[in-house]
Amino acid sequence: MERILITGALGQLGQEFIKFFNKNNTYVLATDIRSPLKVLSCDFEIADAMDEKRIDYLIKKNNINVVYHLVAVLSANGEKNPFMAWEINMKSFQNIINLSINNGIKKIFWPSSIAVFGTKSNLSFVKQDCILNPNTIYGISKLAGERLIDYYNNKFDLDIRSLRYPGIISFDTKPGGGTTDYIIEMIQSLKNEKEYTCFLNKNTKLPMLYIDDAINGTIKYMSINKINLRVKDAYNITGFSITPFELEKKLNELGCSAKVIYNSDFRQDIADTWPKEIDDSTARKDWGWKFDYGIDKTLKVVFK
Ligand code: SER
Repeated sequence: MERILITGALGQLGQEFIKFFNKNNTYVLATDIRSPLKVLSCDFEIADAMDEKRIDYLIKKNNINVVYHLVAVLSANGEKNPFMAWEINMKSFQNIINLSINNGIKKIFWPSSIAVFGTKSNLSFVKQDCILNPNTIYGISKLAGERLIDYYNNKFDLDIRSLRYPGIISFDTKPGGGTTDYIIEMIQSLKNEKEYTCFLNKNTKLPMLYIDDAINGTIKYMSINKINLRVKDAYNITGFSITPFELEKKLNELGCSAKVIYNSDFRQDIADTWPKEIDDSTARKDWGWKFDYGIDKTLKVVFK
């Protein structure tokens, strides 16, 4: 039986993973550095993933045998304080790996991101294997993590797995400090008939994925026999690509008439180094990855 520790559990992904595991009666210990605003359907402890001793104590106390390590400072926040972002992203990662080795935990999930790509990656359609030259501290930390996954898996016989998530769209839980966040902000503003100022230019195409696809896909990937996984660090996956202007038009078609003002800021520079489209054929072939929610189905969730 899996007994799962989720770190950074109150973020955009964590709460959705908790819902999923709860439905499947899997034991989850959720941890974060702040208290939840509403009651969670699993055990919860305040714990900082930077605090090795505290996490060690919780792993032992709760007989944890799988970790979903979701702590991360995202792209836009990372640029505001790169030293802090590197420290949090890498030190917490190293702590989890070290603790896993010491406690006999083999299976770990750690999300990577489209931020690992860069200006040399052929951004119009990024392949699974291409040049990776991330231009943000977030992307650099994700690429470092990808290399460490491969290294630690070999060196310590671990089973750390990772997916390069595009922008994740969710409405119950919000992301914080990312570059793809605009999509959720625009949908919610226009739905509430509020004008929205978009921090990206209207023609900035970025890949996106609806939360249910992200969660179901991750669970499927984690359940696959390791032998079938040819990619030893992180798989490309995607749902659909869209620009802010295309989204605005879709929202207009759904009857939203509030204005969108385009006023790009530093996040435009980040988006300009990220892929427009993702080639996820390797994930499709190796473990049957597919998405279910295109943009229209995603919007249907909100405008039902
Ligand atoms: N959604 C993330 C961000 O915008 C990308 O992984 O930072």
